[in-house]
Amino acid sequence: MSEQLFKSFAIIGAGPNTGIHIVKAFLAIGAPILVIARPASTNVTALPADDPNLKVVRADYTSASEISTVLREHKVDVLISTVTLVFGGVVGQNVLADAAKEAGVKLFVPSEFGIKPQLAKGGLAFQKTDFAVYAKSIGLPTLRVFNGLFYEFVPWLTALADTGKFHIVNKGETPGSFTAVSDVAGYVAHILTTQPPSRLLDVEIQIEGQRATLSEIGALYKGRAPVVHCDALPTEGVVNAHFRTFFQKHVEAGGGSCGWNPVTESDDAESASKDNSRWEGHHWLTVSEALEQ
Ligand SMILES: NC(=O)c1ccc[n+]([C@@H]2O[C@H](COP(=O)([O-])OP(=O)(O)OC[C@H]3O[C@@H](n4cnc5c(N)ncnc54)[C@H](OP(=O)(O)O)[C@@H]3O)[C@@H](O)[C@H]2O)c1
Repeated sequence: MSEQLFKSFAIIGAGPNTGIHIVKAFLAIGAPILVIARPASTNVTALPADDPNLKVVRADYTSASEISTVLREHKVDVLISTVTLVFGGVVGQNVLADAAKEAGVKLFVPSEFGIKPQLAKGGLAFQKTDFAVYAKSIGLPTLRVFNGLFYEFVPWLTALADTGKFHIVNKGETPGSFTAVSDVAGYVAHILTTQPPSRLLDVEIQIEGQRATLSEIGALYKGRAPVVHCDALPTEGVVNAHFRTFFQKHVEAGGGSCGWNPVTESDDAESASKDNSRWEGHHWLTVSEALEQ
């Protein structure tokens, strides 16, 4: 007997960097999606206004009972979370997990969508590791999506957006995984709507639009921005410069690759794109294609 595909999808924390792209990807393939937004969220104004497949409800992310009522009312099978990491959304995800578990949600897609988080407290995105441990402890199946760095975030990582110069900490010659956010969003919508639960439950997805080094990407900016090698990003006018320097150093150590194993701290380059094939026939945007858009 063939397995039933998941039918009902909700997303929580549909912000401009990640979540709204996923909403649009669902709508682009004609799949209904429920957006759960905080009572005061203004992000909903950026959502398509007149798509019958889109429904928006508001709820308090700190109230498990409020969220679980919404999930139950809409019989949600899959809850996708794209809550912010930097402004404290991921640390509050346990409440969303409790709500999902209580409401009988079958799969939780946590807010990952980046590199493999570090394991130890204080490490890069360690809050995502803590969440994965928590979800497992309550028996909530997850699908973690690792895509490396969005192309769109390279100007942030290199302080190009702040300074007009493409800063590379040290040599920038270690390959990492880079993916267009539109490909990540399209991928999430595609696999959740086409693959049976047995291929999605408690799975770690590794996708990669292009394997590249920061030096190679910097070279693509020739004629647009100068490339500067440095020991650390400039701090003047660059918010969170230390964090970005720390991030680049982690990429230089190999942690920017989706094949990175945070336990052994080694990279298996072959496996970095192991799940690209789940989106049969898809053309993954290259960095230069994304830059031209
Ligand atoms: N690979 C990459 O290059 C890359 C780049 C960016 C982000 N990411 C990852 O993508 C995920 C989403 O990040 P993002 O940058 O897309 O987030 P974002 O747009 O900054 O925010 C997403 C949502 O988080 C909610 N939110 C804001 N403050 C919150 C708080 N204090 N508590 C709970 N929720 C809060 C908001 O929901 P409402 O709209 O309901 O208010 C917002 O829409 C993160 O895991 C991040 O690490 C990856």
